[in-house]
Amino acid sequence: MEPIKPLSSSCRKKIWVIGSRSNNGYKEQSCSSPTAASIYCKSGRETMGILSIVFVLIMAFVIPGSIPASWATQDTGISDDAAQKHREGQEIFRFDTFGDEQLWSGVLRMHEAIATVNPATALAVGLKVDVEALPQEVITALQAGQVDLTNPAVTLELLRLNAVVGVKGSFDEAGQLAKIGVTCALCHSSVDNSFAPSIGKRLDGWANTDLNVGAIVALSPVLDDATKKEFSNWGPGKYAPRHHFFDGANITPLNSPSQPIVIPPIYGLKGAGFETYTADGPISYWNSYVGVGQMGGHGNFSDPRIGITIEQTPDLVTSKLPALLDYQLSLQAPKAPKGSFDRAAAQRGKRLFRNEAGCATCHRPPHFTDVLRGPDRSVPFLHDPSEIGRESVYVARSATKKYRTTPLRGLLQHPPYFHDGSAPDLPAVVNHYDNHFRLNLTAAQKADLVEYLKSL
Ligand code: HEC
Ligand code: HEC
Repeated sequence: MEPIKPLSSSCRKKIWVIGSRSNNGYKEQSCSSPTAASIYCKSGRETMGILSIVFVLIMAFVIPGSIPASWATQDTGISDDAAQKHREGQEIFRFDTFGDEQLWSGVLRMHEAIATVNPATALAVGLKVDVEALPQEVITALQAGQVDLTNPAVTLELLRLNAVVGVKGSFDEAGQLAKIGVTCALCHSSVDNSFAPSIGKRLDGWANTDLNVGAIVALSPVLDDATKKEFSNWGPGKYAPRHHFFDGANITPLNSPSQPIVIPPIYGLKGAGFETYTADGPISYWNSYVGVGQMGGHGNFSDPRIGITIEQTPDLVTSKLPALLDYQLSLQAPKAPKGSFDRAAAQRGKRLFRNEAGCATCHRPPHFTDVLRGPDRSVPFLHDPSEIGRESVYVARSATKKYRTTPLRGLLQHPPYFHDGSAPDLPAVVNHYDNHFRLNLTAAQKADLVEYLKSL
């Protein structure tokens, strides 16, 4: 049995496959030959047995803390240098489109739309500008008020400078915007507004709560009015990841009408386990789902539970997932700013959270989730919508049909709350639970609980 080839090798066929319900893990099939009829895969970890059913799958179970390690052992190309891998992961997160220009330009022709959008409008739909990508003369001109924010040519210039967070433009020889693509940073990065509102240094992992993906996509010249209207209804900070998927050629409907959910932050996830609202799989599973099927990256994704199989050669996504995972797990949740909450009240709130209010039965420290509470840590521990009084349409579209207890972190930085954003602020969260669990909290207790949540 030959050992698996490093991910950085020319291995052509890697598909994310979801395992049986019993392990709910995810597997990678790594194949030395791309011919579909005789996909022959080699592995040094899982050996016989599975080989006899054509694929050898490398199992990667979700054990907190061991996710990166288990993947790191496979990607021998970059794992020996942690710093290098970190930089690589950051580069992928910020700048890699995975070839998704095939969707954003090839199908949606967004480059035509963007060429007519002025910077003021671009900022109004939540796009952010990375001040560190701007040369000094541009900064000086901005400071002097000499940049015309109503001129679409300025938007193109910002794209040329690679300064629009999460959006990558490619220009042809004549200097025209030829293609546009998006990166993970579009939804999961913000800026610190240090230069001006929406212009500052990158904050990777922060949810872009201003980003109106629906309004941006609705600018596409190829969508019909009904679709534009549907997307326009999503609102800022939301996206509907179960409405359709793109397989490299077609946009295929999944569920209708679309149900937008809150774009979550992706910091503070190390050790949390089964990230995503419905715990369909670990981080790399979801990265693959979104990178291929939603962003439109050129690659492979397969999950029989939700009936999606996408295969595109070459796969520009799968081999990047380990470095991308490593980078995501390195992103720390921001601490609550000094003075942003009342310490004494938060202390009282903490006792309530752990005792009378019963929050900690599900939001268990240190990650404030119970998703790994089950006897088998490779199976997520989940909650029926009715248990917590949440709507059931979104979960019905997921693979698990249930909700994961959200790990609480940096809460102040990413309102609204709950997957559907139904709680505009933290008092609304506490009121929801007070009603649902009939806690009969006093106004003072509710306020204390809110102060504690602000401190997380
Ligand atoms: C168009 C916006 C958008 C883009 C682009 C995007 N995501 Fe997401 N991401 C979302 C939404 C919405 C969710 C919530 C889905 C869920 O948790 O069920 C999410 C969930 C996640 C989560 C789970 C966080 C949690 O705790 O619930 C991670 C991790 C993540 N994305 C990473 C990435 C990476 C890495 C990329 C690039 C490959 C990416 N995302 C691209 C919108 C986006
Ligand atoms: C029975 C388990 C359970 C209990 C008890 C519970 N929660 Fe939750 N909590 C969840 C689940 C599941 C979600 C995800 C719901 C969703 O996204 O719609 C959640 C979501 C949240 C969120 C939203 C986080 C975000 O980023 O969107 C907050 C805040 C929260 N809970 C606070 C509390 C507080 C405070 C209490 C106690 C009063 C509490 N929870 C009790 C399971 C629970």
